[in-house]
Amino acid sequence: MAEKRAIPVEEGLDHSIKLLGEGYQFILNRRKSFESNIFETRLLAQKAICLTGKEGAQLFYDNDKFKREGAAPGRVQKTLFGVGGVQGLDGEAHHHRKGMFMSIMSKEARAEVSKLTYQYWDRAAAEWEQKDSVILYEEAKKILTQVACDWVGVPLKEDEVEERAEQLGDMFESAAAVGPKHWKGRRSRTNAEEWMEELVEMVRREDVKVSKEKALYTFSMHRDLKGNLLEADVVAVELLNLLRPTVAISVYIAFTGLAVHQHADKAEAVTSGDPDKLRNFVQEVRRFYPFFPFTAALVKEDFEWNGYLFEKDTLTLLDLYGTCHHPEEWENPDLFQPERFETWDGSPFDFIPQGGGEFDIGHRCAGEWITVDIMQASLDYLVNKMMYDLPEQDLTFSFTQIPSLPESKIVMSDVKRV
Ligand code: HEM
Repeated sequence: MAEKRAIPVEEGLDHSIKLLGEGYQFILNRRKSFESNIFETRLLAQKAICLTGKEGAQLFYDNDKFKREGAAPGRVQKTLFGVGGVQGLDGEAHHHRKGMFMSIMSKEARAEVSKLTYQYWDRAAAEWEQKDSVILYEEAKKILTQVACDWVGVPLKEDEVEERAEQLGDMFESAAAVGPKHWKGRRSRTNAEEWMEELVEMVRREDVKVSKEKALYTFSMHRDLKGNLLEADVVAVELLNLLRPTVAISVYIAFTGLAVHQHADKAEAVTSGDPDKLRNFVQEVRRFYPFFPFTAALVKEDFEWNGYLFEKDTLTLLDLYGTCHHPEEWENPDLFQPERFETWDGSPFDFIPQGGGEFDIGHRCAGEWITVDIMQASLDYLVNKMMYDLPEQDLTFSFTQIPSLPESKIVMSDVKRV
């Protein structure tokens, strides 16, 4: 047994304000000052253990030690996740529900999503040719709303695209917001859940035609461990767990646009259209730029790890951003170097922008593969299928705004398809 050790503690009553002030770098800053991959702080008036790095991630994804039920703050559930979805399940119930998600992430589905991405980019770019300038982030949300609805089987009329893109965008744009933005996010979630719930009822009554291959059908007809159909409101939450994060890839597309501009020497390598080079570039975008700061769980039962005591029900945060920038895992973590992925060993615990561990039995992001596929197609389109100028604009991005975005959201002018 390891010798008992005390977890380094950040003194003080509560550090939630500092978390807002330091954003993505909150855990990383303390990892440096404590010179430790584990420390304790106080957030939202409770004790919280923070973990960072590969070893911490390995511990965090041990299902015998951590649970998700009750870990997500209410305001995040009311905007980002929804109530009753896969994120808050544990054990067999989680495994069964996660199987529903992973069953639709087939090779064929991935090929379809890639094809749809090219198709909707092309349609959008044809419209952009008629305009002086467009904002990449806002346009990407509309492209991805169409890709997601088409893939999932959700009917979407042309004149609905803008409204639905805004609604789905509100949910992830408001997750860490306070005040009016937070309330707008909640309203958008309520409206989107009603939209999905109505569709689920229609599918079940056979009032709408949808292919049995589509997630709208398979989720509507999915049965739980007792053999019952899920409540329609839960199916709605799970369908939005496909639509919302697919639209959120627009954040990564805006950062891809930024990277192509700021790391033009590295982008040169993808002009060949070589799929490996495209993939390495988007992997580096996912590693380098901030998106999800951390993820949260609760300690299941008291246990000891490396001599440190974890007490039942303690909130525990795993640093996703900081692990992707950890100097013990990454050489020159603060340099943008897509070629590092030529030799990356594929560990499930060091490259964790979308969570780590296993897909089926853990909470790792169900949509990670299609995220990479959509980003890869988008990068290919941006670099090899069109030309554009970037007029003068503010390309800085913040480490305290969550999710972070280039300030100007990437304005492109004089777009021409090639
Ligand atoms: C914009 C890109 C994306 C990012 C940054 C992202 C990030 C994440 C993160 C951090 C988690 C939680 C991991 C954890 O708590 O351990 C997660 C879970 C999840 N993601 Fe994603 N995601 C993205 C795209 C997608 C897409 C495209 C889909 C589906 C089409 C998706 C579906 C899910 C689902 C269903 C979960 C819950 C998994 C579970 O609890 O077992 N995500 N994602």
